[in-house]
Amino acid sequence: MKTVLITGCSSGFGLETARYFLDRDWQVVATMRTPRDDVMPRSERLRVLALDVTNPDSIRQAVQAAGPIDALVNNAGIGMLGALEGTSMQVAREVFETNTFGTIAMTQAMLPQFRERKAGVIVNVTSSVTLKSLPLLSVYTASKAAINAFTESLALELQPFNVRVSLVLPGRAPETSFGANARSRMQGNSPEAYAAFAQSVFAGMGQPSLITRALDVAEAVWRAVNDASCPVRIAAGADAVALAESC
Ligand SMILES: NC(=O)c1ccc[n+]([C@@H]2O[C@H](COP(=O)([O-])OP(=O)(O)OC[C@H]3O[C@@H](n4cnc5c(N)ncnc54)[C@H](OP(=O)(O)O)[C@@H]3O)[C@@H](O)[C@H]2O)c1
Repeated sequence: MKTVLITGCSSGFGLETARYFLDRDWQVVATMRTPRDDVMPRSERLRVLALDVTNPDSIRQAVQAAGPIDALVNNAGIGMLGALEGTSMQVAREVFETNTFGTIAMTQAMLPQFRERKAGVIVNVTSSVTLKSLPLLSVYTASKAAINAFTESLALELQPFNVRVSLVLPGRAPETSFGANARSRMQGNSPEAYAAFAQSVFAGMGQPSLITRALDVAEAVWRAVNDASCPVRIAAGADAVALAESC
């Protein structure tokens, strides 16, 4: 039986992906900053471990406790929407610490066992905003675009060891906690000079006709892990798929 370790399983895409793999008879190591056993279905094949991807000790302890892993899903991530001029470097670093360096650190921690066994898959969840740029998302987009580039280079480097690295690019998913979780980083970061522009951007976001469901992301991650012939980049969700086709 194969084992997947997923980061950021307390809600959203990570939680749905954990459920999806459990339903398909995988062993799941569901990691979250504050472990809770009430969000996941009860299963003998499920372990919930504490993991903060920005904390090296937490990474070391979780990887050690998890034991042999067949697939790593770097899903944990945080958002930020706002004009760059109103974004503190502290917030910019926070976004990169989680989305970019957290993913790199988790990958590095998992690689020795994959390389030694000459088997393993890593799936990095980035975003469709890296396919077509949107305003007020410069820092977030940069943090995810860096992981696209990281993944595509690393995929070549790991080919000799039979380790695959893939990208899942979700579109906008209003059903997850992503927007609410981002709000604390967006307090007071809207300079007056950008107010009218920001209002027009928010108004344009309104009610999109196409969106991404958490299930779309779980299906795309499943494909990335189980279909060795799939492309390195997989768009997830109707909006992301439409965007990828138009690029
Ligand atoms: N929702 C969207 O519209 C959208 C679109 C494209 C891409 N994405 C990406 O998809 C991924 C999942 O997002 P989501 O929509 O499912 O959002 P979500 O519901 O907010 O889930 C994000 C998860 O990441 C975890 N997390 C945050 N910081 C962490 C850290 N330092 N260490 C470990 N876990 C951490 C959160 O855990 P806590 O409970 O501990 O905060 C939460 O479980 C993210 O990488 C996001 O950038 C989202």
